[in-house]
Amino acid sequence: MALPLIDGGSRKKRDQMLAVDLGNRTTKAVHIQRRGNKFTLSRYAILDAPIFDRVLSAEMLAEHLKAVSHALDSKTRLVALTLNVNEVIVRHVDMPRMPVEDMRLILKHNSRNYLQQELSNYIFDCHFLPPGPGQSDGDKTGAAQKQKVLVAGAKQQIVDEFSVGAKNAGLVADHIVPGIIGPVNAFEMAMPDVFTNDVVALVDIGFKSTSICILQHGEMILSRVVTYGGDRLTHAISEAMGISYAEAEGIKVGMASEVQSALESVLTPLGRELRASIDFFEHQQDRPVAQVYVAGGSARSEFIVQTLAAELMVECKTWNPASFLQIELPPQQAAEIEQVAPQLAVAIGTAISAL
Ligand SMILES: Nc1ncnc2c1ncn2[C@@H]1O[C@H](COP(=O)(O)OP(=O)(O)OP(=O)(O)O)[C@@H](O)[C@H]1O
Ligand SMILES: [Mg+2]
Repeated sequence: MALPLIDGGSRKKRDQMLAVDLGNRTTKAVHIQRRGNKFTLSRYAILDAPIFDRVLSAEMLAEHLKAVSHALDSKTRLVALTLNVNEVIVRHVDMPRMPVEDMRLILKHNSRNYLQQELSNYIFDCHFLPPGPGQSDGDKTGAAQKQKVLVAGAKQQIVDEFSVGAKNAGLVADHIVPGIIGPVNAFEMAMPDVFTNDVVALVDIGFKSTSICILQHGEMILSRVVTYGGDRLTHAISEAMGISYAEAEGIKVGMASEVQSALESVLTPLGRELRASIDFFEHQQDRPVAQVYVAGGSARSEFIVQTLAAELMVECKTWNPASFLQIELPPQQAAEIEQVAPQLAVAIGTAISAL
């Protein structure tokens, strides 16, 4: 599932790709190469985002991407970039049956009809979902003429700025995709059996926000974003202990279990919000969510994941989105990949969807 707002226009398979996940706090980038059916991780980079809380201009993006490309020391110019939750909408929509190109145009000109929102100067992409039970492909009556579609839409201007930013950094923006589906694409590769057979939730705890995607037998049925993330966790520690943000950050990363009650003050409402999405899904589909797989920077802390699990009352695990990759990293990076991997889920999934 790619949902690219732009894709290089070539159906030819790429043999290598940079992917850059432009997070609110940190930029995560990977260089992945394809050899036959095998994928190799040859470099990754984690850099501070250029600015927090503000929209990136093409110039800033170009400067930043130059630094990223330098850190990756890569030979390819092709890059896949992510849009964050403020820059792209991702929705499930019922559409009449038609080819995807027509659908993209119809959405462009009738966003209000299908998305209940006037979205002018947007571009869209669509991913078809399989028909639900009792709705066969051959059935041409009533609801069956409708098609369930996952739609991504972003302002043309943002997509253009990303393209220009990449170009000015000496790169080619081959794909621009919603970051929220990155973990889904990485999960499909890393845990193929669970992906195909189970009902699970993928949670990505970011800096400003946390996303949840619920997958049922390989299809994303629901996605939501909650405005809690690592930033709030650090603030809570800083307030509870009367220390600076930087000190609180150090304690969170180094000895989270020492500040359990401060962490709980944020993880409780986060857990409640995520639980509401799970409850909604379980009610609607009449199926339980068996497990929650957690990624993002905060998932590097087992203590945080387990505290969240207690709030959610369902088993939570971190997972390794690099587990299916052959590792050909420089020695220092190879030694750290296991620990860093949860934070790379979006970047890895984005690279895979573009290869
Ligand atoms: N070992 C760790 N333990 C706890 N928290 C950590 C650890 N490593 C990183 N973090 C936290 O992860 C957060 C950054 O995570 P991440 O890189 O996933 O966010 P982002 O992608 O920049 O944000 P967003 O997804 O909201 O745009 C920071 O708040 C940081 O404190
Ligand atoms: Mg993120």
